[in-house]
Parts: sequence; structure tokens; C-alpha cells
Amino acid sequence: MKYNHLGVASALANLRGRDYLSVTDFDSDQTLALLDLAKQLKTGERRIDLGNRVLGLIFSKASTRTRVSFQVAMARLGGQTVDLNPQVTQLGRGEPLEDTSRVLSRFCDVIAVRTFGQEELENYAHWASIPVLNALTDLEHPCQILADFLTIQESFGELLGRTLTYVGDGNNVAHSLLLCGALLGVNVKVACPKGFEPAPAIFQQAKLIASSNTSLEITHDPFSAVKGAQVLYTDVWASMGQEQEKISREKAFKGFCIDEELLSAADPGAIVLHCLPAHRGEEISAEVMERHSRTIFDQAENRLHVQQALLASVLGGL
Ligand code: CP
Ligand code: NVA
Repeated sequence: MKYNHLGVASALANLRGRDYLSVTDFDSDQTLALLDLAKQLKTGERRIDLGNRVLGLIFSKASTRTRVSFQVAMARLGGQTVDLNPQVTQLGRGEPLEDTSRVLSRFCDVIAVRTFGQEELENYAHWASIPVLNALTDLEHPCQILADFLTIQESFGELLGRTLTYVGDGNNVAHSLLLCGALLGVNVKVACPKGFEPAPAIFQQAKLIASSNTSLEITHDPFSAVKGAQVLYTDVWASMGQEQEKISREKAFKGFCIDEELLSAADPGAIVLHCLPAHRGEEISAEVMERHSRTIFDQAENRLHVQQALLASVLGGL
């Protein structure tokens, strides 16, 4: 579906004041309209000035892309960002989340939270009177996935009926890819070692959302999984918080690396995506990473455009 300016505005109108904790918080029309708005902002066809709104960033984990893209997105919308890392706020000294969330709601207009448990993020949203955005939890990474689907659109146009194969750990990124694929009609195959599958509840949820034409699959054979795929995707074998499992995971994930051999089994025109940071020689070979770096860095840049669209929508700036 392609929207003009008015179409985008009406599809996004009811996102004002909304949280974005999961990819499934917005329906397929709203998600596609967000991607269209992101494209308009990227090309300069559309400019939005929110008039000095403030985004609070509560990050309990490291971040380069998410943090900087939120900061720049807010600056481009005429607003500001305040850093509220638990290490520098009273959160780190035990101030309850329910108090912090209510206090920040009096100062800020929106907050983005990067943390471990999805329940903690949901708790922020419960107590906040302003929109709360998921900047990554152990369960999902929805802002990343918006950028990924924008990048796939830029490469192929239509999303419907495309096949994306994710090779690696059934983690937060794999979860959001499955859910968003289900929502937008993109077939998603996850190839992972035994014992590292996506959460069964997420897979079930994605299956319930998907139309009968969209296939979602979990397999343990990367070569059969990449057959017919137009998009190959990977992410780190050990996510933030799993550092102590790094060595055992390196053994378990052997053979789950996107290298030239695996890539040659996919569609000839397949693109390769990686949410970054990348570990060359683990989930992706240095050669594949370099040969596909243009798309991968477009994908990173798209974080800025989709988050600008997201902020403008939840802050009612359309
Ligand atoms: N892809 C991503 O979220 O990167 P950061 O961890 O650097 O934010
Ligand atoms: N799965 C990774 C994504 C990093 C952007 C992690 O959670 O660390």
C-alpha cells in the first residue's frame, strides 16, 4: 500500500500518545504508513518541526546506533534529548521505577528505554503518562526492525511475499523479525542450532498474526533455510547480558555463519542485513560483511529515519 501525505497522516493519526513496546503494538497499515513517512523524511520531501519536545533516554545497556539515532532524530525534529542512564540517576541507587516513570512524565514528552526484561519496560509504560518506546529488551527490538523493513523496501519495493532467512540465535531481533514479517506478509525462516530457537510464545503469536499466504519456519539447517531467500539476516551469537556464554555459544553456533558458501545457496540477488555490532568470523564472514556493507550501513542509517517517523507520530506532530 502506498500513501500520499494525507494518507500517511490519517493512518498514523491514532498513534498519538501511544507506546511502542512491541512490533505488534501497531497494525500493518500503521507500520507501512510509518515506513512511508520515514521515506518522506529521508528524501526531504517532508519536514516536521515538533517545537522543542524532549525525549528521555533510559539505557541500562550499551548502545551506539539506537542512542545516537534517537538523539539526532529528536534534534532534526526541533527537539532535545536528555540522557537518563541509571548510573547517573537515582534509579541506580534504588529509586523505584514507578516513581521515576511518573517524575520523568512531568519533565519529558516521550521516553525510550533499553533494558533487560520486557516486564520492566511494560512497567515503565504502565506508570508513565507519556509514550514509552522500546529501545531494545531481551524479548524484542522493534525500532531496529522498522529500519530493516525500510531497507528491504528500498532494495525490492514490495515487501509482500518476500522471503527473509535469519541465521543465528533466536533472540530479540529474531523475535521482532518474525512478528513484523507476520504483520507485513514477509515469509521468515529462522535457522538456529538446537536449543537456541525463538521463544515458543513469540512463534505462536507470529503464526496467529500471519495470513495463510505467509510462511514462518524454524529450522536447524542453514543451507536449506537460505534457499529461495531474497534477504539473509544475522545478529551476534551472544547478546548483551549473555557475555558469560560467549565461549559455549561459539561452539554451538559453528556452521551458522553467513559466509560466501551459505550466501551462494540463497537467491542470486539476495541482500545481507545485520543489525550491528558485527563480529566478523563469527555470525558473518569479513568478506560478506564488506561486500554487503553498503546495504548494512543503509540499514543502520535507516534507524534515524524510522525513529524520526515514530517520534513524530507518537508526539502527534503530523
Ligand atoms: N543495532 C543496535 O541496536 O545497535 P546499538 O546496540 O549500537 O544501539
Ligand atoms: N541481540 C543483540 C542486538 C544488539 C543490537 C543484543 O541484544 O545484544
